[in-house]
Amino acid sequence: MCGIVGYVGPKSTLDVLLGGLRRLEYRGYDSAGVSVIDPVEGLLTRKKAGKLDALISEVTEHPLPISHIGIGHTRWATHGAPTDGNAHPHLGGPHQKLALIHNGIIENFAELKAELTAAGTRFSSETDTEVAAHLIAREFENTGDLPTAFASVVNRLHGAFTILVIHEDAPDVVLAARRNAPLVVGLGDGENFLGSDVAAFVEHTKRAISVGQDQIVTLRRDSVEIHTFAGDKVTPEEFVVDWDASAASKGGWSSFMAKEIADQPQAVADTLMGRLSSSGTVTLTEIDGLSKADIASLDRIMIVACGTASYAGDIAKYAIEKWARVPVQVELSHEFRYRDPIITPNTLVVAISQSGETMDTLMATRYAAERGAKVLAICNTQGATLARESDAVIYTHAGPEVAVASTKALVAQITAGYLLALFMAQQRDTLSSAAAGELGRELLTMPAKVSTVLERLEAVATLGRDMADAKSVLFLGRNVGFPVAMEGALKLKELAYIHAEGFAAGELKHGPIALIETGQPVIVIVPSPRDSETLHPKVISNIQEIRARGAIVIAIAEDGDQLVGDFAEHVIFVPQAEPMFAPLLTVIPLQRFALELSTAKGLDVDQPRNLAKSVTVE
Ligand code: M6R
Repeated sequence: MCGIVGYVGPKSTLDVLLGGLRRLEYRGYDSAGVSVIDPVEGLLTRKKAGKLDALISEVTEHPLPISHIGIGHTRWATHGAPTDGNAHPHLGGPHQKLALIHNGIIENFAELKAELTAAGTRFSSETDTEVAAHLIAREFENTGDLPTAFASVVNRLHGAFTILVIHEDAPDVVLAARRNAPLVVGLGDGENFLGSDVAAFVEHTKRAISVGQDQIVTLRRDSVEIHTFAGDKVTPEEFVVDWDASAASKGGWSSFMAKEIADQPQAVADTLMGRLSSSGTVTLTEIDGLSKADIASLDRIMIVACGTASYAGDIAKYAIEKWARVPVQVELSHEFRYRDPIITPNTLVVAISQSGETMDTLMATRYAAERGAKVLAICNTQGATLARESDAVIYTHAGPEVAVASTKALVAQITAGYLLALFMAQQRDTLSSAAAGELGRELLTMPAKVSTVLERLEAVATLGRDMADAKSVLFLGRNVGFPVAMEGALKLKELAYIHAEGFAAGELKHGPIALIETGQPVIVIVPSPRDSETLHPKVISNIQEIRARGAIVIAIAEDGDQLVGDFAEHVIFVPQAEPMFAPLLTVIPLQRFALELSTAKGLDVDQPRNLAKSVTVE
């Protein structure tokens, strides 16, 4: 939540900051602001409530001089409404020479504010952030050294924060601190960058450093120094960003979400690449640290994740239990550590997160690691905190996902889950090599099948547009279709702001069927009729039950399903696949349905209200 960018170098700072904020806007879009230092005019700030375009209008109306150092922020409000006054940067000191931006929550702000108020400081916002600006400005006046003042104040702050500061009397340096919120450095030639993630600067440099927990960065044109909060020097590890800037742009699509839906065959293929041979053997060098004996002795796997990522976890559970015969629990990260879960030395915790910065998931994995569990991350973002803090990482290679609604990251997470399940089955000898090879080869065909689904989405787009006035949509599925149903409902809630629920179809008669009345749209994920243990007849019965009560049924079914057409108003066919892999196909029409319905309602599909892409607060 909140996007942060900092720059020092020869380029026009405003251009660098606004470009970075544009690519970070998915992190929060309640308000935005920038501060720069001009050698003549000193510190200058522009900030505005609303999306980034409001700030751009503001700087067009009240231009800033070309300058070479500055900070920029896009906000997802926590303390204080999204107003001009609460927008960042916040200014500190009686002469307002210091500008500060913040991502996170300063938990002890009330006590610090009381201290400052008693000393006569006047506040101009309702935020928790402003205390840090005044404290650092005051400390700088006392010590005359900005890095010293900065370090002493960040040591007093509790909670989660990435903070960036510039000061008119130290015009060559940007200071940054990180605790429980993301921060990366971009290394340039005669210029350096700071960002909440690499999207902030990938247009300018691919060389990056991920800043560790409780570390302070001193950023100048020609140097980057990192120290711990305690003052010890840190030797950072550099990495090369494997995205390019065009991957984080719309590239002619109407929205990032539309582009990211279209990117899905590539996301699946790239996640498989180098890990699955043409004979179907899985190699996961990333988890070499877990020996065959370690994997054989696992007594349980706990998957922790939130939102869409948790549905990828649900699907992984079906695959791991079926093929590798290890019990798997899937837990919402924010519930996990508050119920005293049983973690043994033979428990593997798998954390799934696109951003790798979701605070709930980070807290869950820290909790598990403290109790001796090994943590394996499935993550889409290089240098993310989750990746740094886990024992091993399987990166999903979906590329940057900008739209708040997760699409291509989900299919990449599902794919990584299948790879993990097959790998574990190989290591535990729970599948014959013939069966494992057949599944692996089938998995290799999935990118092409995903492409086929994309080619067939016009009918679902029309349905989405036609249903723009729907007040509620229900989703039903069974087995791996159940998490798909829940994902379909989540997409509709977050994008179209209408009531939507996903149910296990078998649960209907235990209560939810009471919701069905004439005209109620129900989207049903129909399992394959070819599966030997098929649930197909049972789901067809469920469809009959709801239709008898007036539901309008839209079925997502596989090619060759002769029966379903007789029982549904609309059928969207997807290619035949191994039933375990069907979610990679059946989820796609649901994404497009939500996108079209939201667009037909005139809503912003990339930046739905009240949401942010990375939920970096608990
Ligand atoms: O970055 P993460 O994968 O950890 O994010 C988890 C959820 O916040 C995320 O999937 C959220 O549910 C999406 N907005 C859903 O589209």
